[in-house]
Amino acid sequence: MKILVATQKPFAAVAVSGIREILEGAGHSVALLEKYAEQSDLVAAVADAEALIVRSDKVTAEVIAAAPSLKIVVRAGAGYDNVDLAAATAAGVVVMNTPGQNSNAVAELAIGLMIFMARTQFTPATGTELEGKRIGIQAFGNVGRLVGAKAKALGMEVLALDPFLTPEQIESGGARPVFSVEELYASSDYVSVHIPALPATIKSIGYDLITAMPKGAVLVNTARKEVIDEDGLMRALEDRPDLRYVTDVMPDNYTALQEKFGLRVFATPKKMGAQTSEANVNAGLAAARQINDFFATGNTRFQVNK
Ligand code: 3PG
Repeated sequence: MKILVATQKPFAAVAVSGIREILEGAGHSVALLEKYAEQSDLVAAVADAEALIVRSDKVTAEVIAAAPSLKIVVRAGAGYDNVDLAAATAAGVVVMNTPGQNSNAVAELAIGLMIFMARTQFTPATGTELEGKRIGIQAFGNVGRLVGAKAKALGMEVLALDPFLTPEQIESGGARPVFSVEELYASSDYVSVHIPALPATIKSIGYDLITAMPKGAVLVNTARKEVIDEDGLMRALEDRPDLRYVTDVMPDNYTALQEKFGLRVFATPKKMGAQTSEANVNAGLAAARQINDFFATGNTRFQVNK
Protein backbone atom coordinates (compact mmCIF):
# COMPACT_ATOMS: atom_id res chain seq x y z
CA MET A 1 0.00 0.00 0.00
CA LYS A 2 1.09 3.59 -0.55
CA ILE A 3 1.13 5.56 2.68
CA LEU A 4 1.51 9.35 2.65
CA VAL A 5 2.78 11.08 5.78
CA ALA A 6 1.65 14.69 5.32
CA THR A 7 2.74 17.00 8.10
CA GLN A 8 2.80 20.74 7.57
CA LYS A 9 4.40 20.82 11.04
CA PRO A 10 6.89 17.96 10.71
CA PHE A 11 7.47 15.15 13.17
CA ALA A 12 10.93 14.84 14.74
CA ALA A 13 13.31 12.89 12.45
CA VAL A 14 13.38 9.98 14.92
CA ALA A 15 9.60 9.65 14.60
CA VAL A 16 9.73 9.76 10.80
CA SER A 17 12.33 6.98 10.68
CA GLY A 18 10.27 4.93 13.15
CA ILE A 19 7.14 5.36 11.03
CA ARG A 20 9.05 4.30 7.91
CA GLU A 21 10.49 1.25 9.63
CA ILE A 22 7.07 0.06 10.82
CA LEU A 23 5.26 0.63 7.52
CA GLU A 24 8.04 -0.50 5.17
CA GLY A 25 8.61 -3.51 7.43
CA ALA A 26 5.04 -4.55 6.64
CA GLY A 27 5.66 -4.17 2.90
CA HIS A 28 4.10 -0.72 2.42
CA SER A 29 5.74 2.22 0.66
CA VAL A 30 6.02 5.59 2.37
CA ALA A 31 5.97 9.08 0.87
CA LEU A 32 6.67 12.17 2.94
CA LEU A 33 5.21 15.65 2.46
CA GLU A 34 6.52 18.05 5.10
CA LYS A 35 6.34 21.82 5.65
CA TYR A 36 4.19 22.28 2.57
CA ALA A 37 3.29 25.86 1.74
CA GLU A 38 -0.16 25.50 0.17
CA GLN A 39 -3.19 23.31 0.75
CA SER A 40 -2.98 22.52 -2.99
CA ASP A 41 0.33 20.71 -2.25
CA LEU A 42 -1.57 18.29 -0.02
CA VAL A 43 -4.35 17.91 -2.59
CA ALA A 44 -1.76 17.00 -5.25
CA ALA A 45 0.19 14.64 -2.99
CA VAL A 46 -2.75 12.40 -2.06
CA ALA A 47 -3.52 11.38 -5.67
CA ASP A 48 -2.24 7.81 -5.27
CA ALA A 49 -2.28 7.50 -1.46
CA GLU A 50 -4.07 4.50 0.06
CA ALA A 51 -3.45 5.65 3.62
CA LEU A 52 -2.69 9.04 5.07
CA ILE A 53 -1.03 10.06 8.34
CA VAL A 54 -1.55 13.70 9.34
CA ARG A 55 -1.31 16.00 12.35
CA SER A 56 -3.42 19.19 12.29
CA ASP A 57 -3.30 19.13 8.48
CA LYS A 58 -6.64 19.94 6.90
CA VAL A 59 -8.16 16.81 5.40
CA THR A 60 -10.99 18.55 3.59
CA ALA A 61 -13.61 17.17 1.22
CA GLU A 62 -11.34 18.40 -1.58
CA VAL A 63 -8.43 16.32 -0.26
CA ILE A 64 -10.62 13.24 0.04
CA ALA A 65 -12.04 13.73 -3.45
CA ALA A 66 -8.50 14.01 -4.82
CA ALA A 67 -7.55 10.64 -3.27
CA PRO A 68 -9.64 7.98 -5.03
CA SER A 69 -7.56 5.10 -3.58
CA LEU A 70 -7.68 6.35 0.00
CA LYS A 71 -8.87 3.79 2.56
CA ILE A 72 -7.74 5.24 5.89
CA VAL A 73 -6.69 8.54 7.46
CA VAL A 74 -4.94 8.46 10.83
CA ARG A 75 -4.71 11.73 12.68
CA ALA A 76 -1.54 11.27 14.76
CA GLY A 77 -2.94 13.04 17.80
CA ALA A 78 -6.16 13.52 19.69
CA GLY A 79 -8.36 16.16 18.05
CA TYR A 80 -9.79 15.31 14.65
CA ASP A 81 -11.66 18.54 13.94
CA ASN A 82 -9.23 19.01 11.03
CA VAL A 83 -10.72 16.03 9.17
CA ASP A 84 -13.99 16.32 7.25
CA LEU A 85 -15.59 13.22 8.75
CA ALA A 86 -18.76 13.45 6.65
CA ALA A 87 -16.75 13.55 3.43
CA ALA A 88 -14.55 10.67 4.61
CA THR A 89 -17.54 8.55 5.62
CA ALA A 90 -19.30 9.24 2.33
CA ALA A 91 -16.18 8.11 0.47
CA GLY A 92 -15.87 4.96 2.62
CA VAL A 93 -12.65 6.20 4.23
CA VAL A 94 -11.92 5.12 7.82
CA VAL A 95 -10.69 7.92 10.08
CA MET A 96 -8.78 7.20 13.31
CA ASN A 97 -6.94 9.19 15.93
CA THR A 98 -4.26 8.07 18.39
CA PRO A 99 -5.75 9.11 21.74
CA GLY A 100 -3.42 9.67 24.66
CA GLN A 101 -0.20 9.42 22.69
CA ASN A 102 0.76 13.10 22.85
CA SER A 103 -1.10 14.00 26.05
CA ASN A 104 1.87 14.31 28.36
CA ALA A 105 3.55 16.85 26.11
CA VAL A 106 0.42 19.01 26.03
CA ALA A 107 -0.03 18.70 29.81
CA GLU A 108 3.56 19.74 30.46
CA LEU A 109 3.09 22.77 28.22
CA ALA A 110 -0.09 23.77 30.07
CA ILE A 111 1.84 23.75 33.34
CA GLY A 112 4.70 25.65 31.69
CA LEU A 113 2.34 28.34 30.41
CA MET A 114 0.85 28.71 33.90
CA ILE A 115 4.29 29.25 35.43
CA PHE A 116 5.16 31.66 32.60
CA MET A 117 2.12 33.80 33.41
CA ALA A 118 2.52 33.48 37.19
CA ARG A 119 6.08 34.79 36.73
CA THR A 120 4.96 37.76 34.58
CA GLN A 121 6.23 36.27 31.31
CA PHE A 122 9.72 35.91 32.79
CA THR A 123 10.15 39.65 33.25
CA PRO A 124 11.66 40.94 36.51
CA ALA A 125 8.25 42.08 37.84
CA THR A 126 7.13 40.31 41.03
CA GLY A 127 5.09 37.23 40.23
CA THR A 128 3.05 34.72 42.18
CA GLU A 129 3.32 31.00 42.93
CA LEU A 130 1.11 28.13 41.86
CA GLU A 131 1.25 26.38 45.23
CA GLY A 132 -1.97 26.82 47.16
CA LYS A 133 -3.91 28.09 44.12
CA ARG A 134 -6.92 26.35 42.62
CA ILE A 135 -6.90 24.96 39.12
CA GLY A 136 -10.13 24.07 37.35
CA ILE A 137 -9.76 21.51 34.59
CA GLN A 138 -12.37 21.74 31.88
CA ALA A 139 -12.66 18.18 30.56
CA PHE A 140 -10.87 15.46 32.47
CA GLY A 141 -9.67 13.31 29.59
CA ASN A 142 -6.14 12.16 28.79
CA VAL A 143 -4.62 15.66 28.90
CA GLY A 144 -6.81 17.02 31.70
CA ARG A 145 -5.93 14.16 34.05
CA LEU A 146 -2.22 14.65 33.47
CA VAL A 147 -2.52 18.40 34.06
CA GLY A 148 -4.37 17.62 37.28
CA ALA A 149 -1.68 15.23 38.53
CA LYS A 150 1.12 17.66 37.74
CA ALA A 151 -0.77 20.59 39.31
CA LYS A 152 -1.35 18.52 42.43
CA ALA A 153 2.37 17.78 42.66
CA LEU A 154 2.92 21.56 42.59
CA GLY A 155 0.62 21.94 45.59
CA MET A 156 -2.44 23.18 43.72
CA GLU A 157 -6.01 22.28 44.60
CA VAL A 158 -7.51 20.49 41.61
CA LEU A 159 -11.15 20.81 40.50
CA ALA A 160 -12.49 19.18 37.37
CA LEU A 161 -15.59 19.21 35.22
CA ASP A 162 -16.41 16.47 32.76
CA PRO A 163 -19.97 15.71 31.71
CA PHE A 164 -18.92 12.26 30.48
CA LEU A 165 -17.50 11.10 33.82
CA THR A 166 -19.11 10.25 37.13
CA PRO A 167 -18.02 12.16 40.23
CA GLU A 168 -16.32 8.94 41.40
CA GLN A 169 -14.30 8.73 38.19
CA ILE A 170 -13.15 12.33 38.62
CA GLU A 171 -12.24 11.68 42.25
CA SER A 172 -10.31 8.56 41.29
CA GLY A 173 -8.30 10.79 38.92
CA GLY A 174 -7.32 12.92 41.91
CA ALA A 175 -9.64 15.91 41.39
CA ARG A 176 -12.67 17.33 43.17
CA PRO A 177 -15.66 17.18 40.81
CA VAL A 178 -17.67 20.31 40.10
CA PHE A 179 -21.03 20.14 38.39
CA SER A 180 -21.32 23.20 36.18
CA VAL A 181 -19.02 25.20 33.99
CA GLU A 182 -20.06 28.33 35.87
CA GLU A 183 -18.94 26.80 39.15
CA LEU A 184 -15.65 25.71 37.62
CA TYR A 185 -14.81 29.21 36.37
CA ALA A 186 -16.03 30.97 39.51
CA SER A 187 -13.93 28.70 41.74
CA SER A 188 -10.61 28.58 39.87
CA ASP A 189 -7.52 30.81 39.94
CA TYR A 190 -6.46 28.99 36.78
CA VAL A 191 -8.79 27.30 34.33
CA SER A 192 -7.09 24.85 31.96
CA VAL A 193 -9.19 24.14 28.87
CA HIS A 194 -9.17 20.64 27.35
CA ILE A 195 -12.45 20.46 25.42
CA PRO A 196 -12.60 19.56 21.72
CA ALA A 197 -13.89 21.96 19.05
CA LEU A 198 -17.42 20.73 18.31
CA PRO A 199 -20.56 22.62 17.27
CA ALA A 200 -21.64 22.62 20.95
CA THR A 201 -18.29 23.90 22.28
CA ILE A 202 -17.31 26.45 19.62
CA LYS A 203 -17.31 29.96 21.16
CA SER A 204 -18.64 28.45 24.39
CA ILE A 205 -16.07 30.27 26.57
CA GLY A 206 -16.97 33.95 26.50
CA TYR A 207 -17.51 37.09 28.53
CA ASP A 208 -19.76 35.63 31.23
CA LEU A 209 -17.55 32.68 32.10
CA ILE A 210 -14.29 34.59 31.90
CA THR A 211 -15.53 37.42 34.12
CA ALA A 212 -16.87 34.87 36.61
CA MET A 213 -13.25 33.98 37.43
CA PRO A 214 -11.84 35.24 40.73
CA LYS A 215 -9.50 38.21 41.03
CA GLY A 216 -6.15 37.69 39.30
CA ALA A 217 -7.23 34.52 37.49
CA VAL A 218 -5.59 33.11 34.36
CA LEU A 219 -7.35 31.26 31.55
CA VAL A 220 -5.07 28.66 29.93
CA ASN A 221 -6.00 27.24 26.53
CA THR A 222 -3.98 24.39 25.07
CA ALA A 223 -7.05 22.99 23.29
CA ARG A 224 -8.51 24.84 20.29
CA LYS A 225 -8.87 28.56 19.51
CA GLU A 226 -12.41 27.97 18.24
CA VAL A 227 -13.79 27.23 21.72
CA ILE A 228 -13.13 30.82 22.79
CA ASP A 229 -15.53 33.63 21.91
CA GLU A 230 -12.78 36.09 21.02
CA ASP A 231 -14.98 39.20 21.24
CA GLY A 232 -16.11 38.08 24.68
CA LEU A 233 -12.50 37.50 25.72
CA MET A 234 -11.57 40.99 24.54
CA ARG A 235 -14.43 42.58 26.51
CA ALA A 236 -13.68 40.49 29.60
CA LEU A 237 -10.03 41.59 29.62
CA GLU A 238 -11.14 45.22 29.11
CA ASP A 239 -13.60 45.14 32.01
CA ARG A 240 -11.39 43.10 34.36
CA PRO A 241 -7.80 44.40 34.35
CA ASP A 242 -6.81 41.64 36.78
CA LEU A 243 -7.54 38.74 34.38
CA ARG A 244 -5.06 37.13 31.97
CA TYR A 245 -5.13 34.75 29.01
CA VAL A 246 -2.43 32.36 27.83
CA THR A 247 -2.78 30.00 24.92
CA ASP A 248 -1.04 27.55 22.63
CA VAL A 249 -3.63 28.21 19.92
CA MET A 250 -3.24 31.78 18.72
CA PRO A 251 -6.48 33.78 18.61
CA ASP A 252 -7.42 35.51 15.37
CA ASN A 253 -7.47 38.82 17.26
CA TYR A 254 -4.08 38.28 18.93
CA THR A 255 -2.46 41.46 17.57
CA ALA A 256 -5.30 43.55 18.97
CA LEU A 257 -5.17 41.66 22.29
CA GLN A 258 -1.41 42.20 22.55
CA GLU A 259 -1.68 45.90 21.75
CA LYS A 260 -4.34 46.40 24.39
CA PHE A 261 -3.24 44.07 27.15
CA GLY A 262 0.56 43.56 26.81
CA LEU A 263 1.87 41.03 29.31
CA ARG A 264 -1.65 40.01 30.32
CA VAL A 265 -1.92 37.89 27.17
CA PHE A 266 0.44 35.44 25.49
CA ALA A 267 0.10 33.01 22.58
CA THR A 268 2.80 30.65 21.33
CA PRO A 269 3.78 31.52 17.74
CA LYS A 270 2.80 28.05 16.45
CA LYS A 271 0.86 25.37 18.30
CA MET A 272 3.59 23.47 20.13
CA GLY A 273 1.79 21.44 22.82
CA ALA A 274 2.45 18.12 21.11
CA GLN A 275 5.75 19.19 19.60
CA THR A 276 8.14 17.01 21.57
CA SER A 277 10.26 14.21 20.27
CA GLU A 278 8.51 11.81 22.66
CA ALA A 279 5.01 12.84 21.59
CA ASN A 280 5.97 12.67 17.91
CA VAL A 281 7.33 9.15 18.38
CA ASN A 282 4.35 8.01 20.47
CA ALA A 283 1.69 9.40 18.12
CA GLY A 284 3.53 8.77 14.84
CA LEU A 285 4.42 5.16 15.60
CA ALA A 286 0.93 4.46 16.95
CA ALA A 287 -0.49 5.80 13.67
CA ALA A 288 1.82 3.56 11.64
CA ARG A 289 0.92 0.49 13.71
CA GLN A 290 -2.80 1.25 13.42
CA ILE A 291 -2.45 1.41 9.62
CA ASN A 292 -0.54 -1.88 9.48
CA ASP A 293 -3.16 -3.52 11.65
CA PHE A 294 -6.02 -2.09 9.61
CA PHE A 295 -4.62 -3.45 6.34
CA ALA A 296 -3.55 -6.78 7.89
CA THR A 297 -6.60 -7.61 10.00
CA GLY A 298 -9.25 -4.96 9.38
CA ASN A 299 -8.88 -3.68 12.95
CA THR A 300 -10.85 -0.43 13.31
CA ARG A 301 -10.22 0.27 16.99
CA PHE A 302 -9.81 4.05 17.34
CA GLN A 303 -12.04 4.71 14.33
CA VAL A 304 -13.85 8.02 14.94
CA ASN A 305 -16.31 7.93 12.02
CA LYS A 306 -18.09 4.67 12.81
C1 3PG B 1 -3.94 17.09 19.14
O1 3PG B 1 -5.14 17.26 18.92
O2 3PG B 1 -3.43 15.95 19.19
C2 3PG B 1 -3.07 18.28 19.45
O3 3PG B 1 -3.76 19.47 19.27
C3 3PG B 1 -1.74 18.27 18.71
O4 3PG B 1 -1.82 18.74 17.41
P1 3PG B 1 -0.54 18.72 16.43
O5 3PG B 1 -0.25 17.31 16.08
O6 3PG B 1 -0.94 19.55 15.25
O7 3PG B 1 0.61 19.35 17.16
